[in-house]
Amino acid sequence: MPTLAIIGAQWGDEGKGKITDYLAEDSDAVVRFQGGNNAGHTIVIGDNVFKLHLLPSGVLREGKLAIIGNGVVVNMDDMAEEIKQITDAGLSIDGLRISDRAHLIQNYHKKLDGAEEIYRGKNSVGTTKKGIGPTYQDKIARYGFRAGDILEPELVREKAEFILPMKKDLLKMMHAEECQCTVEKFEDKFKRWGETFGKYVCDTSVLINDMIDEGKNILFEGAQGAMLDIDHGTYPYVTSSSTVGGGICSGSGVAPNRIDNVVGCLKAYTTRVGEGPFVTELEGEAEEELQKKGGEFGVTTGRGRRCGWLDLVVAEHAARLCGFTHWAITKLDVLNDYDKIYVCTGYDVDGKVLKHFPASLSKLEKAKPIYKEFDGWDSWDDSEKIIKDGYDALPKNMRTYIEFIEEYTKIPASIISIGPKRSETIDRFGKWF
Ligand code: GDP
Ligand code: IMO
Ligand code: MG
Repeated sequence: MPTLAIIGAQWGDEGKGKITDYLAEDSDAVVRFQGGNNAGHTIVIGDNVFKLHLLPSGVLREGKLAIIGNGVVVNMDDMAEEIKQITDAGLSIDGLRISDRAHLIQNYHKKLDGAEEIYRGKNSVGTTKKGIGPTYQDKIARYGFRAGDILEPELVREKAEFILPMKKDLLKMMHAEECQCTVEKFEDKFKRWGETFGKYVCDTSVLINDMIDEGKNILFEGAQGAMLDIDHGTYPYVTSSSTVGGGICSGSGVAPNRIDNVVGCLKAYTTRVGEGPFVTELEGEAEEELQKKGGEFGVTTGRGRRCGWLDLVVAEHAARLCGFTHWAITKLDVLNDYDKIYVCTGYDVDGKVLKHFPASLSKLEKAKPIYKEFDGWDSWDDSEKIIKDGYDALPKNMRTYIEFIEEYTKIPASIISIGPKRSETIDRFGKWF
């Protein structure tokens, strides 16, 4: 079956956008299945840099469908701005499809996101303040608005009449910025969204499954990463959606037996934005050096990303939860010119060695990384030659590093990324669909 998924194996920002764009060449549709515009996926095509937050990376390839699945939360106004970025670049968004079951982010969700963070104080998550958590809360609590509602704006009033007063009271109670919206304004907004985006809204589960039946190639694009998963991540320092393998199915309406291959996107070192445990985090100058070399600044918030060595306890956790059949190892070039490079293979907690990522925050706080040391490698002058000559042309010590990851995780490193551009990719597998 022609389905392939790509999921971040760490705390997001692994380079999923680049790898998705690369793999999208032979796909017929790219599907987002969770998260919202908290994501920031960078795609470099020639001299153009695109930063996508909500739209699937397939929008940059002509003639493909770019599908926003039911598990995604959609901010229609922010989406309009993102669409402008695409159309300004001369690309079409005719292939956009939005699930009628996808929930909509409202302004009050963004306000509540900010207010909740203030209440959490020193326990704040460091969210992107895009309203992601509060929108998923409403979905689970059964008073969310869905994309399908923009097709029937006349039905919005009845719901808005009880939801708006509730949100206004809540915001007041939380000393947050007031919600000025009235039921009439709300209804008008849904009408406006319907006129602009109604044509893209449909039953995307039927669409995707029909495409699979016809033998079309579907690429599922994960946002965030396995360690930010609501169930399996570093709770509560996580996002509010299912970022792991199971999220593909619930978030796109495709059954588990229809997913063929899952690529784990693994950055050659580790980064994390926002708060929460990070066992291999570096400190001081060492962290700054890696942050600078890797250009580790958030696409969505501009925040500096915390940086550290590769953690294979994390990689094992992600691989087990997502069923990775391949690795795409990214940003290996960022490790060029280090004298020594370190990889964590276990955690020492009170003298006991842990090989599996624990749920307990106190254990994680005490965990000391157990490192394996690798010799570094020099940078190269001619990337094009390396890409042309393939894997064997990479520095020997880099290959030793890659092969250790393969051996430890029992997953082949099928894609090696040595630069941000589409072209800076070594594909050792080739036949993805
Ligand atoms: P995503 O959220 O997983 O799509 O990743 P981001 O776009 O947030 O962050 C990854 C950053 O690394 C972007 O600036 C990419 O252009 C860049 N990038 C991706 N792959 C590589 C690579 O192999 N080498 C280098 N140097 N940069 C890369
Ligand atoms: P991509 O798809 C990195 C982090 C936030 C915060 C936590 C919760 O670009 O990899 P939220 O706004 O989702 O409630 O914030 O999750 N976070 C990300 N970190 N990459 C992302 O997306 C992220 N999306 C959310 O920094 O710690
Ligand atoms: Mg990102």
